[in-house]
Amino acid sequence: MQDFNDKTAVITGGASGIGLAMARRLGQEGANIVIGDVEVGALGRAVVELTDAGVAVEAVLTDVTDRGQIVALADAAQERFGDIHFLHNNAGVTTAGLAEEQSDAQWDWVLEVNLLAVIYGCREFLPRMKSHGKPAHILNTASMAGMSGGPFMAPYFATKFGVVGLSEGLWHEGQATKSNVGVSVLCPAFVRTGIARSDRNQPADMGGWVTPGSQGGARFGEFLSAGVDDGIEPADLAETVLAAIREQKLWILTHPQSPEVIERRANAIAETGVPPEVRSMGR
Ligand SMILES: NC(=O)c1ccc[n+]([C@@H]2O[C@H](COP(=O)([O-])OP(=O)(O)OC[C@H]3O[C@@H](n4cnc5c(N)ncnc54)[C@H](O)[C@@H]3O)[C@@H](O)[C@H]2O)c1
Repeated sequence: MQDFNDKTAVITGGASGIGLAMARRLGQEGANIVIGDVEVGALGRAVVELTDAGVAVEAVLTDVTDRGQIVALADAAQERFGDIHFLHNNAGVTTAGLAEEQSDAQWDWVLEVNLLAVIYGCREFLPRMKSHGKPAHILNTASMAGMSGGPFMAPYFATKFGVVGLSEGLWHEGQATKSNVGVSVLCPAFVRTGIARSDRNQPADMGGWVTPGSQGGARFGEFLSAGVDDGIEPADLAETVLAAIREQKLWILTHPQSPEVIERRANAIAETGVPPEVRSMGR
């Protein structure tokens, strides 16, 4: 997909962080923007900002863990703007703690928001995007945590590797069927967003994004928060993403160190069978 002018772009988790940066950037390209997000206040602020910037925008209060709400998001987008050309499955959350310390509720929450919702989104929007036959694109937000593992975030790694696998599968299916819908998977390292305050959107009884009483989780939580604060700007990431989509890339890397991280992991799998040391992961 090259041209976004007067095209319809749906972005989940588009009320802040990476999703909002994509909404701003695609809005500059002339796209009509539909934001699905669970955070009411941020959704309202995003609509005001984008409208003031001259962007045609629709906000749909959406909890992506509810398949029915994904269907409602697609319906609302079509009703307002007609054909849908771009879907960014981007909403995401994280927790921190040892795998066995994290509660069932924490595991379920991360799996539902980060992976199941992406699957719901692809399955709901793909037929709608194929039916009009014009150039279209699905962008799934994974992470460098979908390219290389580490400690204290097992649910997050499980989902992000899942999103990479899903996206690769869809890409190959697109090639095999000569589909009009391209696919990319976004794999950033740290970006300056609200991800380390994920608990603002957590079901009420979960007790924070760091598992209560988890020492490793607490140390890792501090490491993650500091990393995010030092991360790249979402606006710079959005620029890289748009260029990569136009270059028809499947994997979108956004940080200079990322190729080396992937290479080290691939070499370790091929040569030693033992993961390379993870640098400064809060241990
Ligand atoms: N920030 C980073 O360092 C980083 C790095 C790699 C990948 N990512 C990924 O980027 C994506 C966007 O996160 P971000 O960093 O911009 O964080 P963010 O917290 O600023 O934005 C996440 C957005 O998702 C929304 N959201 C959360 N739960 C939702 C739900 N159930 N339904 C609908 N919307 C929901 C939030 O309200 C928020 O607007 C996530 O998938 C995250 O895993 C972030």
